Amino acid sequence: MKKTTQFIEPFGVDIDLDIGAMPGAAHHLVRRASDMRGYYTDEAALERLICQGDPVHYEVFETPVPEEIGHLMYCISTLQPGRVGDEYFMTKGHYHTCIETAETYLTLRGNGYMMMKTAEGRVCWEPMCRGRMVYVPPYWAHRSINTADEPLVSFCVYPGNAGHNYGDIASEGFSKRVYLRDGQEVIV
Ligand code: PA5
Ligand code: NI
Repeated sequence: MKKTTQFIEPFGVDIDLDIGAMPGAAHHLVRRASDMRGYYTDEAALERLICQGDPVHYEVFETPVPEEIGHLMYCISTLQPGRVGDEYFMTKGHYHTCIETAETYLTLRGNGYMMMKTAEGRVCWEPMCRGRMVYVPPYWAHRSINTADEPLVSFCVYPGNAGHNYGDIASEGFSKRVYLRDGQEVIV
């Protein structure tokens, strides 16, 4: 039978559930505060953070598989705790390039939110906590936000052909953000 999806050998990977790392991962993406210019409300606070050592914001560990229909991409996403001004640390967020693809996020450690939006302006958020899975349906852009004082660690799975489209979120943003104000977590 002719195979239209690339044939590869089965494999297993080790995941450090506590630290939130995939020690043998072929790809290790690190985003620092300086990679987040333009994403936070308080730009001056972000510049101060960059001057104070430009800390790691989040990391993504993945061992790539063919980027095509039939395969499943998977990764560990580890978002550090902290705030830029009063806004909690978050990922850039993206639509999938192939917008008809979904994603599952299983939280392994920490607490926060998955903020989601559609191009038509719908917005929705789901709590993230250990043992809870968030299903991001096709068409929904997604960003994770860490509201705790420990790393937010997720195991993500999505179709191999999904791709990441950052440009649309960089220009349109999300209409809801999460802040710590007067000791309270607020979503406005
Ligand atoms: O594929 C995903 O949605 C995740 O693995 C994210 O890429 C990861 O959480 C980092 O976020 P972003 O890609 O928005 O920078
Ligand atoms: Ni995604």
